[in-house]
Amino acid sequence: FHTLDHVDVKGKRVLVRVDLNVPVENGVVTDSTRIERIGPAITELADKGAKVILLSHFGRPKGVDPKQSLKPVAAEVARIIKRKVAFAADCIGEVAEKAVAAMHSGDILCLENTRFHAGEEKNDPAFVAQLAKLGDIWVNDAFSAAHRAHASTEGLGHKLPAYAGRAMQEELVALTRALEKPERPLAAIVGGAKISTKLELLGNLLEKVDALIIGGAMANTFLLAQGKKMGKSLVEADLVATAQKIMALAKAAKRDIVLPVDVVVAQKFEANAPSRVVDIDAVGDNDMVLDIGPRSVEQAVSVLARAKTLVWNGPFGAFEMEPFDKGTVSVAEAAAELTQAGKLVTVAGGGDTVAALNVAGTTDRFTYVSAAGGAFLEWLEGKALPGVEVLRAK
Ligand code: 3PG
Repeated sequence: FHTLDHVDVKGKRVLVRVDLNVPVENGVVTDSTRIERIGPAITELADKGAKVILLSHFGRPKGVDPKQSLKPVAAEVARIIKRKVAFAADCIGEVAEKAVAAMHSGDILCLENTRFHAGEEKNDPAFVAQLAKLGDIWVNDAFSAAHRAHASTEGLGHKLPAYAGRAMQEELVALTRALEKPERPLAAIVGGAKISTKLELLGNLLEKVDALIIGGAMANTFLLAQGKKMGKSLVEADLVATAQKIMALAKAAKRDIVLPVDVVVAQKFEANAPSRVVDIDAVGDNDMVLDIGPRSVEQAVSVLARAKTLVWNGPFGAFEMEPFDKGTVSVAEAAAELTQAGKLVTVAGGGDTVAALNVAGTTDRFTYVSAAGGAFLEWLEGKALPGVEVLRAK
């Protein structure tokens, strides 16, 4: 990869693809993680005398939609990086060209939502050319959008000299350390609701990890496949055969699949609904499994204590509702302690996972928490990401 260490940006117009697709409620950014991550590349470029032009999508608009303008997000970028950030109401054409022409070295300009133009998602060469006109080089600092082969995330890399930004570099280093060249034993935690959405991920991880700890409702389907009664729990009955196949494959490859041995059940999925811990063989007909129990926590922690690297995607239980966050929080706390003691490299990612680790208050004590959702999953699935590949080609 070429990085910002390999280019003299002084006086150059640098198109920086960032991911400003952040959660916004009533015009207020509610989670600035992604903005904080891109701060270093932006300020470094500005300090080195570049004209920094930020490009990003926001939401999934169909054409121009004022409700999905990047303007309030650009203001949040300015607040967080403590620099002036100008805004242009279009990302191509006269408006954008004039705004860029007016820039001086060290200036920062944010262009409007790239998805206001259909050419963005189509990776249309004509649209790519219009964007490319605005810059001398392209920096991709949006790992979390790198699974999209769009004009600003991929197309530009074929038109302009391409470099990885600092946040992109950091993501790639962390993910490589976790999955490509991990210190072993390597353990993975995969949780979340459905096996069906994580089949490829399970397949790829089983080839790479020494132990796979399964949590969340997807564990229910594996348990059902082992003949356990799951009561009214969320299960994917049509995937029982698939779950059996995965367990057989794991056994043949001598990989451990770690499933809950006790669970927290309730009869209603409501905050503070009466709940109890039961052995995995004692789930009643009206019970709903909503979290793992203390023995399962211990079991997961003992796997982590023997591991050197952990990859984590997906919570153990219904963490968004107390007290069903307890399993996730307890394992996260143990993982954070092992990390701080220098015994475990911990890399986590995916939308829900980041939210769960924030609930657990352990995000800052993990080795690395990815800012990516879909891109992190595709990476775990072993897929090549177009926005990363285009950097590799250079
Ligand atoms: C994300 O939020 O995961 C990325 O910004 C990609 O957004 P998208 O799923 O709308 O392409």
